[in-house]
Parts: sequence; C-alpha cells; structure tokens
Amino acid sequence: MTSLHQQLLLKYDVPLPRYTSYPTVPYWEPQTLTPDVWKQAFTHRFVAEKGQMSLYIHLPFCENLCTFCACNKRITKNHAVEEPYIAALVSEWQMYRQLMPYPPVLHEIHLGGGTPTFFSAQNLYKLLAAITHQAQVLHNHEFSVEVHPNYTRYEHLETLAGIGFKRISLGVQDFDPLVQFTINRVQTFDQTKAVVDWATKLGFEGINIDLVYGLPKQQVSSVEHTVELITRLRPHRIAFYSYAHVPWKSKVQRRYTDADLPNALEKWNMYERGRQLLTQAGYKAIGMDHFALPNDKLFVAEAAGNMHRNFMGYTTTATKLLVGLGASAIGDTWEAFAQNEKEVEKYELLVSQNQLPITTGHLLTNEDLLIRKHILELMCTGKTTLQPDVLPPAFLESVFEKLQPLQADELVALTGTTLSVLPKGATFIRNISACLDARMWRKQAQGNMFSKAI
Ligand SMILES: C[S@@+](CC[C@H](N)C(=O)[O-])C[C@H]1O[C@@H](n2cnc3c(N)ncnc32)[C@H](O)[C@@H]1O
Ligand code: SF4
Repeated sequence: MTSLHQQLLLKYDVPLPRYTSYPTVPYWEPQTLTPDVWKQAFTHRFVAEKGQMSLYIHLPFCENLCTFCACNKRITKNHAVEEPYIAALVSEWQMYRQLMPYPPVLHEIHLGGGTPTFFSAQNLYKLLAAITHQAQVLHNHEFSVEVHPNYTRYEHLETLAGIGFKRISLGVQDFDPLVQFTINRVQTFDQTKAVVDWATKLGFEGINIDLVYGLPKQQVSSVEHTVELITRLRPHRIAFYSYAHVPWKSKVQRRYTDADLPNALEKWNMYERGRQLLTQAGYKAIGMDHFALPNDKLFVAEAAGNMHRNFMGYTTTATKLLVGLGASAIGDTWEAFAQNEKEVEKYELLVSQNQLPITTGHLLTNEDLLIRKHILELMCTGKTTLQPDVLPPAFLESVFEKLQPLQADELVALTGTTLSVLPKGATFIRNISACLDARMWRKQAQGNMFSKAI
C-alpha cells in the first residue's frame, strides 16, 4: 500500500456513525416523540402504505457471551425465559394491531438478536403464528433469521422454512482458534457447514455469513484462512464488518485489552486482503460492508439502483413502515423513529401494563427528511444531487466547505451539485456522509458515541 493511502487512513479513521438512520440515535430529540405522537405517526403511515410493512423482532437471548459483541443481548442458559418473552412480543403486536384500521400486509419479517434460535422451534412457531394470524403476507415476502450455528438445530430451520423463511444469516466472525478463544466464541467449520447444508436442502434462497475484521489477535493470515474456508461454502452473501470497538457499550470481562487490537493500518490490510480474496472468488463489493454473488438479491438490487438501507442495514425491500417488536427494537414510520426499552424485564413489565414499551424516539423535521434522503442515496448508490432550490443556502455552503478536503483527496467528485463517491472514497463513505450530518456539526459528539470509521 502506498504511503499516501496510509496517510488517508490515519486522517479519516475517526469515530463516526454507521448511518443506518438519520438523524443517528445520539442526536435524537426524545421530547419530540410522546407515545401519542408515535401512535399517530404509525397510523398515518399504515394508511399511506395501505397496511404494507416490515417487522423486526428482537430475540435477545444467547447462551454464551462473545466478548466482542456490540448487540443488545442477554446471556442465560435458562430457557424458562422463552415463554414470557414470546407472550410479551405477542401482546406488543396486539397493541399495534389495535391501531390498524384493517389487517396488515407483511412484506418483511426479520428475526434478529441475540440468537433467535436460542428459542425452541415450537416457540418460534407459536410466535410467528400469532404475528401472521389474520394478516396478509405478500407473495414476494422476505422472511429472514439470524442464527449462531452452535445453537441451531435442523428442526429450527425446518420450522422456519415451513412458515416461508427463505433468508438466513449465520454468524461466523473468524475461524482462527486464537481469535475464537480471545473473543470467547469457539465455533468449528463443520458446525457452520452443517447449517449451510441444511438451509440449502430446505430451499433457503439467500444464505449470508457474517465475518468481522479488526478483531483482537486477528491477523491478515486469519482473515485469509477464514475467507478461504467460507468461500468454499458459496454463501450468496458475505457481510464483512469492521470490528466496532465500543467497550463502553459492553462492559464485560474480556480476554483482551486495547493492545491486542490491530491498528488502523493493520485493520485496513485485513480488509484489503479479504476484499481481494472475495473478489477473486466471484463476489462483488456492495454498499459499505457486503459482498455478494450475482445470484444474490442484494447484488441484483444494487445493479438496478434499488438497494435500501434501514436500521437492519442494507435491504432489498423499500417499505416506509418498519415496526420493531421486543427489547431495544427500533421502529420507523419515515417521519418518526421509536426505540423500545432495552432491559428485558422492564420491557416485559411495560407491555404487561398495556403500554407501548417505547423509551426514546425522534420526530423528523423537514431538514432531517431532506438530509436523510441524501445520506441514504450516498450509502446505497454512491451518488446524490443536492438541490439548491430545496436546501437552505447556508447548509449547502457548509456541505461544500466540508467536502473540500475530501475532494482534494479524490474521495468524492462534485459536478455541479451532484456528489459522487469515487473508487478511493468507497471505504470512507461514513466520512463522506458526515459532511451532510448537520445535527452532528451543531453538537459535536461528546465523549464516546461511535466506533471508528475504518
Ligand atoms: C446478532 S449477531 C448474529 C447472530 C448470532 N447471535 C451470532 O452471533 O451468530 C449479529 C452480528 O453482528 C456482528 N457484530 C456484533 N458485534 C460486533 C462488533 N462489535 N463489531 C462488528 N460487528 C459486530 C457480528 O458479525 C454478528 O454476527
Ligand atoms: S455475537 Fe451473537 S451469540 Fe455472540 S453474544 Fe453477540 S448476539 Fe450473542
């Protein structure tokens, strides 16, 4: 790598949001979103979308704590937690059903976690039967689930396939034994392969595998080994995430310290080597952190300019109504965001009191809506046109000023008011998006909020 590229890395490796929403969560103004405002926003959008919606269901339990994990999870081996949690999810859904003037049309259901397959196949069936009861399911629906191969049985996938699940995402991260020990996540290739084989046999059409680079004790050679093994399985898609080091979020006893983490340059080398190997194996880089084969739906959506991004990351479906069920889940009505209580017990208590368990949210202003559109376009298509007749002149002036150093470094090009991400800028898409983040300029991040951009 050239020393010029090294300089860019050092310059742009600063803490920034991942822009799965705009405004990003730390800049929400919770006072703008009372439960009544949320209910109104939900009903308004429900009618505007003729009942069509996506559902995200958060299933937070995991049997084992992976110490690198930044997700909202609850570690337990006690499976007695399953039934009360499912009952709370169904009650929460009933509260939304009461707000709907007619039955919903389900486009997307995503079971995320935590580890959804912590729950027995019977309990997952019970949950999904209650959710889809008297609801219409679109013929081209997208039902997907995240699984940890160590805690997934054939019966889980058989049950989910029977309900119409066609997409599955398996967590792997890295196969190096030292990295696995360090992050407390020991998982063999054979276990992973068994789940991929079951999913293929059961007709799953979209198999994704999550890998992470920049983990403690990880080296370029561990990435090479992991990518070599994974590409043998030919998953349709591979998420190659940058390790988000957010120790303030996950205050756990770790087997690693900051000294065990690769520096920005080492991390970049891991990404570069992974990218090269994935490309050689026939995968194309999509969006910020995905690689896909031509038979993958995200590949097709990106090629057609139809890719979208929401709280779940990149998606192929564009619905303006996302309902989030479960502890910490986030909902989006396009004009408003709401996030549920994160603690399982408090979440269950609020639902048992017949209250929507929302604890924070944000009502988008006109400025937010405009900026969100441009950031989404940048993240999904690498291009956006800033309209001087719509955007305030002072805002545009600031954007152009902030873009100047990125133009000089050939990360972006400005042609008139059209902003395009150049090939060198693809890795710096978070930095480019931040040039439009008016809320962040106004109130610069106080303390630790985001992981670093690279
Ligand atoms: C809910 S987990 C996936 C399902 C299952 N719990 C598992 O671990 O296999 C979601 C994914 O988020 C990613 N992830 C979690 N913590 C992360 C972090 N600190 N940095 C980057 N990616 C992370 C991992 O790739 C992980 O597979
Ligand atoms: S990585 Fe997955 S299994 Fe591990 S703690 Fe996080 S959510 Fe649970």
